Amino acid sequence: MIYLDNSATTRPYKEVIDSFVKVSTDYFGNPSSLHQLGVQAENLLSKGRKQLADLLGVKPGEVFFTSGGTESNNLAIKGAAIKHRGRGNHIITTEVEHASVRETMNQLKQLGFEITYLPVNSEGRMNIDDLEKAISRDTILVTVMHVNNEVGTIQPVEEVGKFLQKYPRVLFHVDYVQGAGKIPLDLKRHHIDLCSISGHKFHGLKGTGLLYVRDGVQISPLLTGGSQEFTIRSGTENVAGAVAMAKALRLTMEKQRSDSGRLVSMKEQMIQGLMELSDVTIHTPSVHSAPHIINFSIKGFKAEVFVHALEEKGVYVSTTSACSSKKKSTSTTLLAMGVDEGLANSSVRISLSYENRMEEINQALTIIKETVKNLKEVMK
Ligand SMILES: Cc1ncc(COP(=O)(O)O)c(C=O)c1O
Repeated sequence: MIYLDNSATTRPYKEVIDSFVKVSTDYFGNPSSLHQLGVQAENLLSKGRKQLADLLGVKPGEVFFTSGGTESNNLAIKGAAIKHRGRGNHIITTEVEHASVRETMNQLKQLGFEITYLPVNSEGRMNIDDLEKAISRDTILVTVMHVNNEVGTIQPVEEVGKFLQKYPRVLFHVDYVQGAGKIPLDLKRHHIDLCSISGHKFHGLKGTGLLYVRDGVQISPLLTGGSQEFTIRSGTENVAGAVAMAKALRLTMEKQRSDSGRLVSMKEQMIQGLMELSDVTIHTPSVHSAPHIINFSIKGFKAEVFVHALEEKGVYVSTTSACSSKKKSTSTTLLAMGVDEGLANSSVRISLSYENRMEEINQALTIIKETVKNLKEVMK
């Protein structure tokens, strides 16, 4: 098997699973319980929180555990919208956000919020001038993703953070789900108020995530109850999952330091190989581009047919973002970039991790080329 769908999810590291099993078995207490088992679980949770905070360069009290990227995005955006509605009802985002932001915006729109979607250029990137034009006295939140999950474009979040310094009452949220463990992001230096992270995208476990909330920033909880997570997110914490996520981020960031160059070389090799095919369009930009995502179309090919044909030969890739790949809708990201609908419907995403090897890239390329040839024969 050659697994090249790491933006959908990653295989958890063995050490991560070992941590999860150990904590679940030996420290199963509820962290809110007063007795010793509860205290032990609470200590482990605090340790995990501190490790994650250190890795992200923030304070432990700014890290709130959630069930993943979708929940973190919902909590950041709806939590800010509900809390600050008295100040204004305008939110700014981009046309290329993940569905967990897009659908949240649709819901807020129905509740009476005004949403501005910033356009992107042909490389999938927004620009600050459009943000400057859109911002108004009613703006309470700007939310921009860091790395686009479909094509890998890196948004200018540093510039957005700097620009928003002129608007201290406007909160800034970043969906860092695809960037964490691949591209460093200095949350403090770039004046980010809220930041979403998901454990299963960096070899942690599904159903684990966190939201960074800068000290002093107020949001309303979406889940109310026993006041866990400093009342921001009630519900008994997934202690083992949180500890496992801390381990996953530490191990991934070690690889980020040692293996970033290798990741970029694998991506370049893949793009070069794909470009040898006729009728291929690479949608991933060549600059401001994450090291692990490659999105391309082969004219006339149905993406699903191609993905299944590759699967038969043991190569796992995806049609577009995982959550929308079963709904047959055209990629909003590619449409926003100006790609025509036919080509957008042919788009395939290959996504790498530090666990991949150059031999796998070369083998996958051979299989891709063979598959293209076979499909073209059938289509004749
Ligand atoms: C950019 C981005 N944001 C948010 C999410 C949602 O994360 P989760 O699967 O943890 O809910 C994803 C998952 O694909 C993503 O790629």
